[in-house]
Amino acid sequence: MNISENKVIDESIQGQALVMETPKTTGKKLFLESYGCQMNFSDSEIVASILMEKGYTTTTNFEEADVIFVNTCAIREGAESKVRNRLNDFKRVKARNPNALVGVLGCMAERLKAQFLEQEKLVDLVVGPDAYRDLPNLLEQAEDGHRAINVLLSKEETYADLTPVRLGTNGVTAFISITRGCDNMCSFCVVPFTRGRERSRDPESILNEARDLFSRGYREVTLLGQNVDSYLWSGGGLKKESLTEEQKAASVNFSKLLEMVALVNPDLRVRFSTSHPKDMNDEVLYTMAKHENICNNIHLPVQSGNSKVLQMMNRGYTREWYLSRMEAIRRIIPGCGISTDIITGFCGETEEEHQETLSLMEIVQYDFAYMFMYSERPKTLAERKYADDIPEAVKKRRLQEVVDLQRKHSSVRTHEGLNKVHRVLVEGYSKKSEDMLMGRNSQNSVVVFPKENYKKGDYVNVLVDKCTSSTLIGTVVK
Ligand code: 5AD
Ligand code: SF4
Repeated sequence: MNISENKVIDESIQGQALVMETPKTTGKKLFLESYGCQMNFSDSEIVASILMEKGYTTTTNFEEADVIFVNTCAIREGAESKVRNRLNDFKRVKARNPNALVGVLGCMAERLKAQFLEQEKLVDLVVGPDAYRDLPNLLEQAEDGHRAINVLLSKEETYADLTPVRLGTNGVTAFISITRGCDNMCSFCVVPFTRGRERSRDPESILNEARDLFSRGYREVTLLGQNVDSYLWSGGGLKKESLTEEQKAASVNFSKLLEMVALVNPDLRVRFSTSHPKDMNDEVLYTMAKHENICNNIHLPVQSGNSKVLQMMNRGYTREWYLSRMEAIRRIIPGCGISTDIITGFCGETEEEHQETLSLMEIVQYDFAYMFMYSERPKTLAERKYADDIPEAVKKRRLQEVVDLQRKHSSVRTHEGLNKVHRVLVEGYSKKSEDMLMGRNSQNSVVVFPKENYKKGDYVNVLVDKCTSSTLIGTVVK
């Protein structure tokens, strides 16, 4: 696998145009394109639900849209440049249809508001991730020819009462946001600045969303948060920092929430992302082990295998701590799928420190990894404190080493699935043929098998007898 063709390196620069599951009216047409993490895709569903109430429908053709929204990602420079190019494409639509409105939503909004609105005059609206309820007002302002902007971040907004419209859905799997924002301040990361302080969502609203999805035929939910392990609900308004130990014990933590969602229905699978190594405790692992329908899969970003680099990254754990968490996962949930995020070429990273990332990978043998070169982001702790001093070519070479090693490990993990029976939730046709169906096993590996009479949403047991480097292939056994 070559870096330039490796999709896993920068998923944030793959934009995706999204359409609604069931358009309600034939009003104005909205083209909504989303970049970046699952949280952004989930936010796009909130945006769609707010505008659907106002009579909008969605389109996948931006040329015919009345409103074009780009839900942006700011996590790495590459993601930002991609959005910029896209905005230039949309400028063409405005040249033909002066009434069309273009808006930038999400993580780039705060940082680039002045540039996009006033200097480059690329867009009519700029709206931050906590201001989507204001969209109908802002659209009216923009229609009246005013530049419309709201990038205020909130300490409370969770959109808990909104029922998101499912976009680009397969009708089987869906995402549910459980927290917004992040308080962790990893030194490389712009998220705390673009998405604000962490807040947890009322568990009742999460359960209602899960029940509603199940009743509409969905069979898997993924609970989303920047750090799901820090989820804590102690009743509206109470701040985490000011809680007594007693109040904390009476609160709903992530482990309790996970159990509550698992109990919605044994046929509703539950996944979650992202876990944080400093906060992921054994209670969560035991809850996973206890409930059959909580998938055996953990995304636990390591970022680096060297303790000094981790300290400079402000990650709050050491190499040894991370490995002890791995040991706990293997002990409590044997066969658990484990994936990670890795950054190469962080400020000051020496060759030996990079080697420690490779050696940690050898110990863990991840099933899957998202791998990135360090990209300095404005306002972050690292930008202010450290020099971005690793030459691009070195960052790239180290990344290639990480990618090559990961490819080997992914293949080893996939081959471990051979000659075993996997419980698979069917998601749809396989990419290659309509005679084959695809789904995922509990560990999140893709499994492909002949269709017979099975359909989306079914659970099947597949005996796997073949595989590629990342896909398991087999036949259904009764
Ligand atoms: N440079 C490179 N990668 C980054 N990530 C976050 N910020 C940066 C950055 N400035 C990666 C981390 C994180 C994932 C979502 O994106 O690995 O876990
Ligand atoms: Fe960024 Fe760290 Fe928060 Fe993840 S945990 S969003 S990397 S600050």
